[in-house]
Amino acid sequence: MKSVKEIVDSWHAETYRRFPVVFERGKGAYLYDSSGRVYLDFLSGISVTILGHCDDEVNEAIIRQVENLLHVSNLFYIPSQAALLEELGETLPWKGRVFLTNSGAESIEGALKLVRRYASLTGNGSKKIITFRGGFHGRTYGSLTATAQEKYHEGFEPMLPGFVYVDPEDGEGFERALEGGAAAVLFETIQGEGGVRPLSDEFLSFVCRRAREAGALVVCDDIQAGLGRTGRFYSFEERGIVPDVITLAKGLANGLPLGAFIARDEVFRVLGPGTHGSTFGGNPVSCAAASVVVRRVRDEVFLSRVREVGEYLRNKLEGVRGKSQRIVEVRGRGLMWGIVLDVPGKEVVNRCLERGLIVNCTEEKVIRLLPPLIVTEEQVDEAVSILEDVIGGLNV
Ligand SMILES: Cc1ncc(COP(=O)(O)O)c(C=O)c1O
Repeated sequence: MKSVKEIVDSWHAETYRRFPVVFERGKGAYLYDSSGRVYLDFLSGISVTILGHCDDEVNEAIIRQVENLLHVSNLFYIPSQAALLEELGETLPWKGRVFLTNSGAESIEGALKLVRRYASLTGNGSKKIITFRGGFHGRTYGSLTATAQEKYHEGFEPMLPGFVYVDPEDGEGFERALEGGAAAVLFETIQGEGGVRPLSDEFLSFVCRRAREAGALVVCDDIQAGLGRTGRFYSFEERGIVPDVITLAKGLANGLPLGAFIARDEVFRVLGPGTHGSTFGGNPVSCAAASVVVRRVRDEVFLSRVREVGEYLRNKLEGVRGKSQRIVEVRGRGLMWGIVLDVPGKEVVNRCLERGLIVNCTEEKVIRLLPPLIVTEEQVDEAVSILEDVIGGLNV
């Protein structure tokens, strides 16, 4: 009989570099492989299982929904959508509207269509969309074009027209990009795939102020850094900025596919009936899970706990940095951290996995930590002690 690995390797497109591990079960911050071995998950499916694996309350909501109704078209009203929309609506910085999608890329596509149509109908005149180098917004053509990293574009050209890329923290470059107007600027407050690179408060404020003055909408891609990851429900909350459009996905349904693009009422009104749609977007089961996620994560006690454990993790990582010459920088916020090495991080990731710790590497040299938001101090101790050993054991 062929193994799982053999079957997947012979049939699936070769687009993923997979680790030779087969996970069969998960609970909380732990995953169990096919031999029953336990792993501490400090990646959470890249910020997806934010309440931990197989959370009891989320699973109960899913099971209840599955027993009643799996799917019905968006041509009809869906109770679990209503519950989620009310819960999500209360998190917004303004009265807004939400379009429910299946993924991050689909949320970005929707946001791109929204801002271009807003520019068309309000007579702003420019369809230009400004994004930042090092950002990541997805793999579909619009979201890929918005992703200002050549390595992702190679061989897929021509990309969509009308996008302009600026370096993070380059105020003059942003001013130049705004010349002649723009429909929108799109950014992550912390570039996740781009090496856990936070944009500074000053730069974010400047970008938002100048975009508004130029008549451009401000779009925050909170797909990775949002939903409590930084210790606030939305990552922009502590940055002194309020966007016009927000994109979410990843952790929204704790592992089921769901995303959203959200905008102020006044902006969203340009998408009337027939202008956008999705067969599976906002499906009843994902929405049932997401209602639980949003209700739990927006709770101030939950968020302050994320900040507390995040601070604990930061201090521990700073301690490791003090002891290792291989670590150039430790950066991030809340429970989103990057350990910047002066050597490629692949070996660290592999050795951590051998030791039962799941992390990953972005931008070749940055070890990324995205533990579930329910992680405890004891689990942080466990993870950091493995990381310290592994990084300490790298050849100088
Ligand atoms: C900030 C950000 N935007 C968009 C996406 C794309 O999301 P998806 O993979 O669900 O299409 C990602 C995925 O990593 C992301 O981190």
